[in-house]
Formats: sequence, structure tokens, C-alpha cells
Amino acid sequence: MNLPFAESWRIKMVEPIRTSTREEREQWIKEAHYNVFQLPAEQVYIDLLTDSGTGAMSDRQWSAMMMGDESYAGARSFFRMKDMITRLTGFEYVIPTHQGRAAENVLFSALVKEGDIVPGNSHFDTTKGHIESRRATALDCTIAEAKNTELDHPFKGNVDLALLEDVLRENGDKIPFIIVTITNNTAGGQPVSMANLKGVRALADKYGKPVVLDSARFAENAYFIKTREEGYADKTIKEITREMFDQADAMTMSAKKDAIVNMGGFIATRRPDWYEAAKCYCIPFEGYLTYGGMNGRDMEALAVGLDENTEFDNLHTRIHQVQFLASLLDEYGVPYQRPAGGHAIFIDASKVLTNVPKEEFPAQTLTVELYKEAGIRGCEIGYILADRDPVTRENRFGGLDLMRLAIPRRTYTDNHMRVIAAALRNVYERRDSITRGYAITEEAPLMRHFTVKLAPLAEQ
Ligand code: F0G
Repeated sequence: MNLPFAESWRIKMVEPIRTSTREEREQWIKEAHYNVFQLPAEQVYIDLLTDSGTGAMSDRQWSAMMMGDESYAGARSFFRMKDMITRLTGFEYVIPTHQGRAAENVLFSALVKEGDIVPGNSHFDTTKGHIESRRATALDCTIAEAKNTELDHPFKGNVDLALLEDVLRENGDKIPFIIVTITNNTAGGQPVSMANLKGVRALADKYGKPVVLDSARFAENAYFIKTREEGYADKTIKEITREMFDQADAMTMSAKKDAIVNMGGFIATRRPDWYEAAKCYCIPFEGYLTYGGMNGRDMEALAVGLDENTEFDNLHTRIHQVQFLASLLDEYGVPYQRPAGGHAIFIDASKVLTNVPKEEFPAQTLTVELYKEAGIRGCEIGYILADRDPVTRENRFGGLDLMRLAIPRRTYTDNHMRVIAAALRNVYERRDSITRGYAITEEAPLMRHFTVKLAPLAEQ
């Protein structure tokens, strides 16, 4: 008999979590104005709001923290982190930042100016925000297949190369760089193939443009290349990682994801001119060049996290868990962005709550229903998050209306996955009886999803 799959680690420390009653949750979500961001975390049983900064560090990471050098300048911990980054990526110049969006802020301050166009594959919200706040345009060139949640495609995060070439040909002089996000979070944690990265590189060379990788989940991307792309099965994750970064000039990194730390980020590049230009923004925004918003001990943990999470076993355990959850949803018939992503499952709310009109926010309604059902906190990636059109002030209903269930790394067990799937199944089975959603009663002009207040349109 073949032995079943099991995790590549065992548990040394645990954090108690507690369930609650439906009555409690109904009261709590009402007090939170039906916005899960407003819930105290203690009112949540299984927290799938994000996989960012919510992973469990290893014993090696915790012990590395004791070795933190907290010197203001020239800390040993910085050089340890820098050496690890250079070893994995080949990038010689490293600027630490306190998280991913700070890396974007520092690098884009040096590179993006008014009127520029930055093409890419579904720029993450903060990436887009840092481009748009400089009065430049973030142009999405993701392949069309990504919008069809029912379609199985091994690399749904890919860049549409024909579209990218059109943009390069027509607007070449306005493009400071191309940015490719690996994995493509917004499209559902979907990977980008090596062939596609090489295609982007070839176009970039043809038009004389640099390439930046938004690398928050680069290791998960490497895992998908190894397991799905021809010619990579026998390569190690570290070899694939190096080959991915060989296609780029620089990276921005949110270390809260694939470096498995609670806080941290960096910029790395092979270009001395970019390093020199970005340096000037790091010091006033983040801090001196050898800490940039991070503690010495955090840089130590980051270095170890990068090393560990570019090993196959760790990634296999992680992605296997996400795919296990997906397999249960398949069994129950719950529709999600196919295939399962690296860090999350994105439930297609428009296919679940078909009786809730889009003006009443189906994905948000589903998020509240799942919380009420079992204390599970997902996150709406849909019409509320899409904000209003800056000109017409109308809600933007053009995109997908999804609920993201992001799985933190090494944090929950497969039994938790069973609870999540069963809770969703219960909601799914009574989906036809859910006919009304929510109305917005208060909202911020930008990034409204964090603070929006809602009122139910049906008797609760
Ligand atoms: N790029 C990607 C692809 C991301 O997913 C994120 C964050 C960032 C950049 C920004 O990094 O949070 O360290 O400042 N994503 C989190 C999420 C917040 O929940 O998907 P950060």
C-alpha cells in the first residue's frame, strides 16, 4: 500500500484558537458593520484574510533571531540577508524595506514619472496604487484565459505577449519598465511559466526595456514551473528560482509571503544605476541602507525563511494543502477559480449567490455568510475592493466578484481545511435562499474595502 502524503514538518509550538456560537458571530459581524476587516481577530476561528505575515516561522528562523545584529549601520544581519538574496537571485544590490509596498514606493520613486505606462500582469493593488499616485498608468496585459474561472490552464498568470508587444511598439518611450507578478495574486494565485518569463525578456530586449519581478510568491511560482512545465521536473527549486530572476533586472519583494516572516521586504537588482537612484529614497522613507525599516533579527529570520522555502518539501506541503481544500470543494461542487492557486482559493461568488444582484455585492455577502456559518474569515476580492471609477464615481462591476480564502503557511492543518470546506458546503447548499446582499452606508474615497460600513438589505 502506498503511504499517504504528510507534512514535511512536525509541530513544536501551538497557539490556541476557539470556536464561537452563531449567535455570538451574528452580533459581532453586526458590530463590525458587516466588514470582516473590522472584526477583532479573537472573534475569528480560522483566519483566511491573508497569507501575508501570517505564516509560522520554523525553529531555525526563531533561533536565527537570537543572532540579530541591531547595529544602525553595517549590521551583520543585513549582510547575511543580502548574501542569501544574491545567492538565490544573482542580484548584487539589495535595499531592505519594511514590507513589499515600501519596496514599491522606494523603487518607483526613482523610476516612475507622470505620464508613464507600466505594463504587467494584474498589478497588485499597492503596486497599482504606487503607479497611479505618480500619475502614471498600470496597464494589465494578463492573458484573457485568467478571466474565465471555469477554465483549467496551467499558467493562468501569464502575460499576453502579443498585447505586451503592441503596448511596447505604440508607447515604448513612456515605459520605464515591465512588471511581472509571480505568482499572479489578483488572477487567483496563478503562476507564470518560465517560457512566458523568457518571452517577456525577449520583448523587453527587443524594445530596450527593463523587467521587474514583483516576487512576493516567487517560490510558489517556481514550484508550479517544476511540477507543470516541460523540462523542469528534474531541476531544483533553487535552480528554477535563479533562472526566473535571470530574466529580470530587478525585484520587489514582500517577504511576508514566501520568506515566511511576519514583516519585511526588499528591493534587489543587478543595475548599479537603479541602486544608486533608489538609495536616495530608502533613507528618508525607510531608514538607513543596511536596515531599511527592519530589525536585525528580522533580517536573520528572513534569510533563513528564503532558504527553507526554496526547498521542494516545504513548498510541496504547502501547495498540497491548498489543493486538498480544492479537492473537497470539487467534491461539493463549489465553484472557484480553476486550477487552485498557490496561496489561496478564490470562490466565484457570482456563480454561488446567483440570486443576489451585483449592486448588492455577492462576494461580500458570501464572505459574511461564511463568517456567520463557522467563524471563518475570508476576504472579498470583488466589487467593493474594485472601488468606484475615479471619473464617473460609479461602482466598477466589470471584473470578477470573488471571495479569497488565503491559506497561511504552516499554520493550519488539513482538519481545518475540512472545516472550511464543510462550512462552505453548508452555505452553498442554501445558496438559493440567499436573495439579498448589502448596501454601503459609509465608504472612503479610495481603498474603501478596509473601512467600508454596510447594512443588510434583508432581515437578519
Ligand atoms: N505584491 C503582491 C503580489 C502582493 O500580494 C502584496 C501583498 C504586495 C505586493 C504588497 O506587499 O503587503 O508586504 O506591502 N499582498 C497581501 C495580500 C497584502 O493579502 O495579498 P506588502
